[in-house]
Amino acid sequence: QHIACIFDLDGVLVDTAVYHYQAWKQLANSLGFDFTYAQNEQLKGVSRMRSLDMILKWGGIEKSEAEREALASLKNSWYVAMISKMTTDELLPGSLKILENLKAIGAKIALGSASKNSALILKRTGLTHFFDAIVDGNEVTTSKPDPEVFVKAAELLGATNKDCVVFEDALAGVQAAIAAGMYVVGVGETENLPGAQLVIKDLSEITIAELLALKNQETE
Ligand code: G6P
Ligand code: MG
Repeated sequence: QHIACIFDLDGVLVDTAVYHYQAWKQLANSLGFDFTYAQNEQLKGVSRMRSLDMILKWGGIEKSEAEREALASLKNSWYVAMISKMTTDELLPGSLKILENLKAIGAKIALGSASKNSALILKRTGLTHFFDAIVDGNEVTTSKPDPEVFVKAAELLGATNKDCVVFEDALAGVQAAIAAGMYVVGVGETENLPGAQLVIKDLSEITIAELLALKNQETE
C-alpha cells in the first residue's frame, strides 16, 4: 500500500492536554496570576518556550532569557512528574486500533510531534513499538506550522510527501502538513481545523479502508 501515516502525539493519540494545563496553571499561579482552560486550548501544538512566552504575555509579565529558561524547566519538571504516571488508560479512543490495523497492512508509521517528552509518553502508554520513525521537538529547529517535523518524518520513512497522511489536532499542525503537501486528517472540531481534507472527532471514527479510499480519490 502506498500509504504512510504520521501521527501527532498530544491530543491525537494520547490525552496529555490536562497535564500541560495543570503544570502551566501551577506556574502561572506561582507568578501571581491565573490561567484558564480556554487559554490552554490556544497552546495546542505550540512549543514549550513559545507557550511560556504566550502565558507570560497574558499575565503581563516580562522575564529575562535566563529566567524564562528556568521557568520552562520548572514547568517541565512538574509535567514530567505527571506523565511519568500515565498508563494505557490515557490513550484516546481509537488510537490503539488504528495503529494495530495500519501495522497489519504493512503501512509505515511515524510520529511527528512538537513535544520533547514523546519518548516517555510513548513508553508509558505502550505505543513505542508501533513507530518506524519518531520525530519530535528534540529533532526539529522550526516548529509547526513549519513543515520540518513532517518532512523529516517522511524522509525517515522513505515515503514521498504526497503518500503521507497526517493526523493532527492543532491548527498549526494542520498548516504544517498542508505546507508539506500531505493529506491531513484533522482530529477535533471542523471549525477549528480549516484546511484539513477530513475532520474526525477521534481516531475511532475512521477505518483503514475508508482512509485508503479517501487517499486514492485524492491522488486520482
Ligand atoms: C505538543 C502540545 C503542546 C506542548 C508541546 C511541547 O505540541 O500540544 O501543548 O507545548 O507539545 O511539549 P513538551 O512536552 O516538549 O513541553
Ligand atoms: Mg497535538
